[in-house]
Amino acid sequence: MPATVVVGTQWGDEGKGKLTDLLARDMDMVVRYQGGHNAGHRIVVEGEAFALQLVPSGVLYPHITPVIGNGVVVDPAVLLDELDKLAAKGVDVSRLLVSGNAHLIMPYHQELDRLTERFLGKNALGTTKRGIGPAYADKSSRVGLRVQDLLDAKIFREKLDVVLHEKNLILTKIYNRPALRAKDLAERYLDEFAPRLAPRITDTVAVVHDALARGARLLLEGAQATFLDLDHGTYPFVTSSNPVAGGACTGSGLGPRDLTSIVGIAKAYVTRVGAGPFPTELEGDVGELLVERGHEFGTNTGRRRRVGWFDAVMTRQAARLNSLTDIALTKLDVLDTLDEVKVCVAYEAGGVRYEYPPYHQSVLHDVTPIYESLPGWKTDLSSCTSYEELPAAAKDYVRFLQSITGVPISVVGVGPGREQFVRPS
Ligand code: GDP
Ligand code: IMO
Ligand code: MG
Repeated sequence: MPATVVVGTQWGDEGKGKLTDLLARDMDMVVRYQGGHNAGHRIVVEGEAFALQLVPSGVLYPHITPVIGNGVVVDPAVLLDELDKLAAKGVDVSRLLVSGNAHLIMPYHQELDRLTERFLGKNALGTTKRGIGPAYADKSSRVGLRVQDLLDAKIFREKLDVVLHEKNLILTKIYNRPALRAKDLAERYLDEFAPRLAPRITDTVAVVHDALARGARLLLEGAQATFLDLDHGTYPFVTSSNPVAGGACTGSGLGPRDLTSIVGIAKAYVTRVGAGPFPTELEGDVGELLVERGHEFGTNTGRRRRVGWFDAVMTRQAARLNSLTDIALTKLDVLDTLDEVKVCVAYEAGGVRYEYPPYHQSVLHDVTPIYESLPGWKTDLSSCTSYEELPAAAKDYVRFLQSITGVPISVVGVGPGREQFVRPS
């Protein structure tokens, strides 16, 4: 039975939360496959906003089983707090399951993320300082603690002693910070978090395969995005996991042939938080307008997002990297007041035209976008309930993006609300 992936095609915050919530109506299970609480997925239901970090966006529906897959890095304090807050808002969170193979974010990960960023000074990446990079680094170095270790106090303490010995040397000798006490950490994780999480910890690989076998419909919710991917993004200005669709397999335990559709999500313009190249970045009045109209401030960190014109070069690459079957275009309404809307159709550098991003970062940093300009529609789209209602210029823009990227657009967002979308016929 079907497994659909929702994957960001830009630098994050494309509206994955809203799209996941929308698609989850017709699903049975929503699985997060990578990242951690660096994600901020905002969903607006009847005027009430939910900002999810670790809990899969399908949680708002009573028929959905939300699953945190093995590829996620979990800060238990954040997860429990998020669950409490959702429960306080009347959301039933009882069905949430967590993979025993997911890795734990520990207090030293968060501290090292902050310290490394400070140490890098002007070369800082602008991470979310949530400990994501250090937690994935420990996973790769095979010294990470996993969620299943919460269920075995002896193993947890043994592993913690080994890893904390090294972390404390780094904290005290390199960064001149106080050492962390294994006893304090073990008490918090084993006495406070473990009993509350224990009923949810399970073999989620078996869960997703059993679900597929009984005909359930699965949605795999990406966090971050294609150009923040550790392998395919604008390295080193990336996150430490693989948000691309391939990551949906490694991060959930599904096989590549289990994936039946892969929806790429793209804003009608582009945003980025943190440092790194951004060929179509806009400064000045149009940039300000997009930040203001699009409320382009981080869902959890509050940081102002950088903004730019739609970049078809990136989208073409995202189509290749993810095997996109279709695109959900969000925030078209944010462009409502513009006289003209530009689209980057290719890059130019050193007399060469690029239809796909140049692999060498030195070239990417130097590219000049080649734009095509389309007329604006100067109409409020936010109350459109069918594609036919869109003004001709807005439809032309959607059609143009479709033809220039080569990927069909299946959904167009016209506002943050659950109902604010239309489907091109
Ligand atoms: P995510 O990280 O990909 O889930 O995206 P975020 O939730 O961080 O940021 C997307 C923002 O855009 C959120 O505030 C959404 O409520 C909002 N949003 C999503 N789709 C639309 C849309 O079509 N129009 C408008 N105006 N806002 C949208
Ligand atoms: P969602 O799922 C936008 C960015 C950070 C930084 C880089 C590395 O809401 O789209 P990290 O803390 O992951 O080590 O930071 O990645 N970043 C995001 N940008 N949306 C996100 O998530 C992001 N998660 C990380 O700003 O540039
Ligand atoms: Mg976000």
